[in-house]
Amino acid sequence: MTLGAGSEDDPTTLVVNGTEVLAPASQSLASVLRDQLGLTATKVACGRGECGACTVLVDGRPTMACVTMAGLVRGPVETLEGLADEISDLREEFADRGAFQCGFCTPGQLVHGAALVRQAGRLAEEGDLPCAVRKRLSGNICRCTGYQAITAALCSVVEQRVEARVEKEEIR
Ligand code: FES
Ligand code: FES
Repeated sequence: MTLGAGSEDDPTTLVVNGTEVLAPASQSLASVLRDQLGLTATKVACGRGECGACTVLVDGRPTMACVTMAGLVRGPVETLEGLADEISDLREEFADRGAFQCGFCTPGQLVHGAALVRQAGRLAEEGDLPCAVRKRLSGNICRCTGYQAITAALCSVVEQRVEARVEKEEIR
């Protein structure tokens, strides 16, 4: 069958971790990332937008890739592979505090965490930092933890980044 221009099966252009790729518009973003591009840090657990395992950043916003059609993606996509260097501080805190859970939930928590620590200043201004972090991370489900170590790791990185920014401004 020949599909007309603008059909949902036309290829769409995505920018993934800074590289342009063509993908079938009607395929889920998770499937494009994992099956077409081999970016398997993005996990699929529930497959219906309920657990956050498949979280990637689209235009900087945490987005569930399993329920996002490639053709509806507006903005650059960042996966854990692309974010790994940027969040080396967060990965270290996760390791030091025993915040790593399983291979399904942790990648999504780290990707969502990357978006959070980018907004360190704004988060810190909210006052109750652990509460602000928990609220934002509530879509990244793990039934096996109380989230204490994950929250502590994120709060620590937020505080470090705010301090680093203050120091930089003081030096100027
Ligand atoms: S796998 Fe996408 S939200 Fe659960
Ligand atoms: S879902 Fe990953 S450890 Fe609970």
